[in-house]
Amino acid sequence: MFKKLPEERKTAEETGLLARIDRSRLPQHIAIIMDGNGRWAQRRGLPRTLGHRAGVESLRDVVKICVELGIRFLTVYAFSTENWKRPREEINTLMNLLIEYLQKEIDELCANGIRINPIGKLEELPASAQKAVLMARERTRLNRRLTLNVALNYGSRSELVEAVRTLAQKVRRGELAPGEIDEKLISSHLYTAGQPDPDLLIRPSGDYRVSNFLLWQLAYTEFWLTPVLWPDFRRVHLLQAIVDFQSRERRFGGLL
Ligand code: IPE
Ligand code: IPE
Ligand code: MG
Repeated sequence: MFKKLPEERKTAEETGLLARIDRSRLPQHIAIIMDGNGRWAQRRGLPRTLGHRAGVESLRDVVKICVELGIRFLTVYAFSTENWKRPREEINTLMNLLIEYLQKEIDELCANGIRINPIGKLEELPASAQKAVLMARERTRLNRRLTLNVALNYGSRSELVEAVRTLAQKVRRGELAPGEIDEKLISSHLYTAGQPDPDLLIRPSGDYRVSNFLLWQLAYTEFWLTPVLWPDFRRVHLLQAIVDFQSRERRFGGLL
């Protein structure tokens, strides 16, 4: 199990929230846009790179509580197809942090039954980052407790373009009739094939946008937005999001 540090003892708020959570109605799949690292650093007069480093702690905390609760799928947005527009130095820091995280945490992730499933155009990542994510995927592939989809060089539109291309090739080869293309088939050609759509999307840092994340999969997802910056995000915020999620009426277009 995860090592428990003394400062990780539950606060009264966490205990209260945990008591309110209905374990039989947990979200199966949570997606998080890990945003606000730069602003967190800026507010402290620190370089943005330190904000990214601090954000790794939040990820650790959130993964841990998801495992404890029994959440089956967690998708985290770590690097978008648009993030290449950032300065070289920042991109290098992000890639190095990813490698460091995977190398340092892999044993513990494995011991806790976590499957690392990198999603995105992995072939465009620097060779060292590719090596680290492929190693993590391979080492954890049989784990079943929590699937951690790490969105890296991920863009939802690019994911859909890839799916359309694959389907078009199948049609051209005569393996598929256009009329056979339905919603299920499209879902099964996305990186999240075989997984339930996210029930809950969390975006910290106060921005109200999707930023090219899981456009197809979010069709009926509940959104939980918070001004808390990602490096300040802790298990208590995830518990707040789940309690709020459980108070919502999901209608999926129908009537209750
Ligand atoms: C999220 O934090 C990390 C990545 C996009 C990789 P940002 O770096 O976007 O932080 P802000 O939005 O500038 O505060
Ligand atoms: C979304 O955050 C991508 C990640 C968190 C990896 P951005 O900071 O890139 O999104 P925008 O630019 O604010 O839309
Ligand atoms: Mg941002």
